[in-house]
Amino acid sequence: MSNSDRVVLVLGGAGTVGSGIVKALLDKGFKVAVISRDGGRLDRLRSFVSPNTRDNLTAVVGNVGSEQEAEQAKQQLLQQVGKVTDVVSSLGFSWWQGGPPHTQSLKDLHWVIETLLFSTFVSWKAFFPLVRDESSSTYTFITGGAGEKLLMPGTGFLTVGAASSLAFCQVLREEYPELPCKLNQVKIDTGVATPDRMAPGYLNHLDLGEAVATLVERRNTSHTVFTVNCPADLKTVILEKNL
Ligand SMILES: NC(=O)c1ccc[n+]([C@@H]2O[C@H](COP(=O)([O-])OP(=O)(O)OC[C@H]3O[C@@H](n4cnc5c(N)ncnc54)[C@H](OP(=O)(O)O)[C@@H]3O)[C@@H](O)[C@H]2O)c1
Repeated sequence: MSNSDRVVLVLGGAGTVGSGIVKALLDKGFKVAVISRDGGRLDRLRSFVSPNTRDNLTAVVGNVGSEQEAEQAKQQLLQQVGKVTDVVSSLGFSWWQGGPPHTQSLKDLHWVIETLLFSTFVSWKAFFPLVRDESSSTYTFITGGAGEKLLMPGTGFLTVGAASSLAFCQVLREEYPELPCKLNQVKIDTGVATPDRMAPGYLNHLDLGEAVATLVERRNTSHTVFTVNCPADLKTVILEKNL
């Protein structure tokens, strides 16, 4: 199946990480679909991608963190694109530094878990059945290394939320050790930014997008965690490891 026959759903595709992935996939000739709760963000995404690929981008307004709304978004999406062959899940938020746990409320923790874990689980449950039985399909999770350590004071709930996403991915690998669909995870242990917001050691979201798009394109590995610590790892860890 050529790239132009494949339809990649990028969950969180309007975000910092997701938008780089969407642009790179479109540049490689894939059809791409994105679901976001915010129509304005989808408009900005449309103007961000290469103009000659814009017709291959389908945007749906929806909330994939609610079972009912995820189902509605799925039906709407399938009506528009007919099928989904691949999924990239890049849900969550870029940063959280609300303060140490004793200053936080249950509501704060609930929001963190809802955004990082519940949306990842609910959308996986809704969209995985579309790809799970196809050996030519992929499902790729983007996660953060923040789940393994406290990044700095005040970021504790980020660690709790990111750890829950890491654990969920591990559970999927172990509960479903043999799947036709290629199930992979890209664990990013550094910051990701757009070119105008780069800091030392950060990944440019365009470079990360290109590496993830190549992973989706190749479909060579499954049940693999690609850990990226620095920009050089995009080449060595993601691209060379799955040649
Ligand atoms: N940015 C970094 O420095 C960095 C570093 C390492 C790992 N990561 C990981 O990369 C992933 C994405 O981060 P990011 O920086 O791209 O965050 P972001 O810019 O805030 O984007 C996250 C996206 O998730 C979407 N989302 C969350 N809940 C949703 C829901 N219920 N329904 C639909 N969409 C939902 C948001 O969509 P809406 O448009 O609806 O708001 C948003 O577009 C996270 O898992 C994060 O841990 C990021």
